[in-house]
Amino acid sequence: MYYIGIDLGTSAVKLLLMDEKGNIENTATREYNLSFPHPGWSEQNPYDWYDKTIEGLSELVADIDKSKVMGISFGGQMHGLVMLDRNDEVIRPAILWNDNRSVSQVEYLNTKVGKGKLSEYTANIAFAGFTAPKLLWVRDNEPDNYSKISKIMLPKDYLAYRLSGSFCTDYSDASGMLLLDVKNRKWSDKMIDICGIDKSMLPKLHESYDVVGTLKPKIADMLGLGRDVKIIIGAGDNAAAAVGTGTVGDGKCNISLGTSGTIFISSKDFGVDVNNALHSFAHADGGYHLMGCMLSAASCNKWWMEDILGTSDFSTAQKRIKKLGENHVFFLPYLMGERSPHNDPCARGAFVGMTMDTDASDMTQAVLEGVAFALRDSFEVAKSLGIKIPRTKICGGGAKSLLWRQMIANILNIPVDVIETNEGPSMGAAMLAAVGCGEYKSVREASEAIVRVVDSYEPRRETALKYNDRYNEFRQIYPALKGVFGSIS
Ligand code: XUL
Repeated sequence: MYYIGIDLGTSAVKLLLMDEKGNIENTATREYNLSFPHPGWSEQNPYDWYDKTIEGLSELVADIDKSKVMGISFGGQMHGLVMLDRNDEVIRPAILWNDNRSVSQVEYLNTKVGKGKLSEYTANIAFAGFTAPKLLWVRDNEPDNYSKISKIMLPKDYLAYRLSGSFCTDYSDASGMLLLDVKNRKWSDKMIDICGIDKSMLPKLHESYDVVGTLKPKIADMLGLGRDVKIIIGAGDNAAAAVGTGTVGDGKCNISLGTSGTIFISSKDFGVDVNNALHSFAHADGGYHLMGCMLSAASCNKWWMEDILGTSDFSTAQKRIKKLGENHVFFLPYLMGERSPHNDPCARGAFVGMTMDTDASDMTQAVLEGVAFALRDSFEVAKSLGIKIPRTKICGGGAKSLLWRQMIANILNIPVDVIETNEGPSMGAAMLAAVGCGEYKSVREASEAIVRVVDSYEPRRETALKYNDRYNEFRQIYPALKGVFGSIS
């Protein structure tokens, strides 16, 4: 039997075909545009998501026994605001997770409504990328568009809706809307009031492994798939990636090094970070998780290598890096502002500490280290809550770099486990599809049967000590520049 996982990412949709044992039979990728119409804005066209997904699906299943495809599920970029009118037309481009336009709505929510109340209603405070502040931005700035809203949904839910006609979401993804009472897994009436919307505009809530419908007959026929192929709602990309790396149950950790960077800590029980620096969200396995999210992670390295140095040969540049723990240059990776733990849309990227003998290689190293230090910021918050994180998995495009894996092991001072595949969210989505179709009894059972650790990167004592000193220097730089960022951005 075959299960399809669709990872609706920020730069591309990645599709994966998995058999019932967890073997990857095929993959396909389609890129689409990301537009920044104003500084700090980030938008995409949901029609592109759908068209590219259909293209990718056609390629994925072209040469297989199509009658063996049982289910399709999703891992999607979180928080994006998709609004449909009463004819199901997209009202305006989706406003994405890394969009910072809603600064004054965030300020209103965190100060006028108050962080305490928000945390009581939703287990989280407002961050610019979250869905509710962006909805308020549309109300304040595009009243015509706001008045047309009939349905509000998240990116992957738009795909599920187009493929099945079922208007629904899952708890993990809904957690990032600031509209969900995460603890009780239901929409928050208080937040619905604050946003001035009607509950009927919100999708029906499900567990990530729930079957929510079947493929529309027209689409099934076009792809040559059975009309009984099940649609399983899936999860936000980080929860899906956690499933794909076996980060389920209690006290497991996964780091995702994609466009964003996240540190994801799974938990059986609900819990909130007292300072709300980490997000408190539902997990796709039926439990919960805490998560720190950096807005730019592997994207910092891509920016530095491709846009600034003008090369796409990342590995040659990384081979020149020799002296781990001894770099005199620091890099702040806040190219899109920062979410965790600073919650500062005005934060910016910065190189600090260059001298006349600094070369490009030191700066490349600083970029990789800066991302790892910023992950450690969230890791330290988790540790301060008494959470024990003995080791972590890693996934995402950035995790292909052996050097970056070792740096992260040294900088967090814990072993980093590598699993067979880097395809976190699409693999997790395919696993959720298999659970939904009854191939496995639970997400845990699927993960125990499928996920295999193939390598581990141990921290090296001497280097970890050096990095500890470097981290203590790094953490002084953002507070020193915060005021400057505020005035220049
Ligand atoms: C998580 C977040 C990002 C996006 C990226 O809170 O905003 O990781 O989900 O796709």
